[in-house]
Amino acid sequence: MASTTVLITGANSGAGLAATKELARASPTLHIIMACRSLKPKQQKAAAHIEQIFGRLDVLVNNAASGSGDPDVKTRFSLCLETNVTGPAMVAAALRPLLLKSANRYSLYISSGQRTLVRNATQRPPTHSLHLQNLDAYMVSKAALNMLAGLKVFVVSPGFVRSNLRGTSEEARSGWGQAGDPEAAGELILSVVQGKRDGDVGSLVHADGVYPW
Ligand SMILES: NC(=O)c1ccc[n+]([C@@H]2O[C@H](COP(=O)([O-])OP(=O)(O)OC[C@H]3O[C@@H](n4cnc5c(N)ncnc54)[C@H](OP(=O)(O)O)[C@@H]3O)[C@@H](O)[C@H]2O)c1
Repeated sequence: MASTTVLITGANSGAGLAATKELARASPTLHIIMACRSLKPKQQKAAAHIEQIFGRLDVLVNNAASGSGDPDVKTRFSLCLETNVTGPAMVAAALRPLLLKSANRYSLYISSGQRTLVRNATQRPPTHSLHLQNLDAYMVSKAALNMLAGLKVFVVSPGFVRSNLRGTSEEARSGWGQAGDPEAAGELILSVVQGKRDGDVGSLVHADGVYPW
């Protein structure tokens, strides 16, 4: 049976780890490459390594992100923009030649449905954001990420789920008691990889539909 090679960045935690587990459970033909922090400085090596072993890449899940709310403006903007925009763009560029070798390629950018221009302009912020300070850099970075595109691209809003994004205290991890199970984010990513959301290609998808930009 033909195999599908999937690379997930930030795969050691939260939504990335949940997606890794969901995909690994779903089918023995899905080979998951769990990329953690070391990918960025070594991405050219990573691409060569993947080419040597698998010959191509079928699915790239650009998931890693920083939720930095550092009180220093330059620090949080540098961190969020470098990690959430420049990083995914570099990873996508380095792995694009390998994706182009796949007959059924998918490129996913894990973003945030809250950070769209329309929703930002028309909706009140969710109550959990009252607990968060200095969200500006994260919001700007996700709006910028939504502009990256190419191949068969999906921008994915995983929902408000437990993770280290807001900090590592139990309060922050659980989103002040409001965050859901990251397994739901994993299931959403799996459904895209399995082609169940092909009708939504080019959109910002969430579990129940798509968001306007
Ligand atoms: N959780 C939510 O409610 C929620 C809602 C909307 C969108 N999202 C999105 O879901 C995705 C996954 O986030 P998560 O919630 O699962 O958060 P998480 O548990 O904090 O995981 C983030 C991942 O990104 C990695 N990362 C952070 N800074 C990095 C850097 N400078 N260089 C390389 N890797 C870095 C982390 O590595 P370390 O473990 O080494 O720090 C970790 O693997 C993100 O794109 C996030 O914006 C999450």
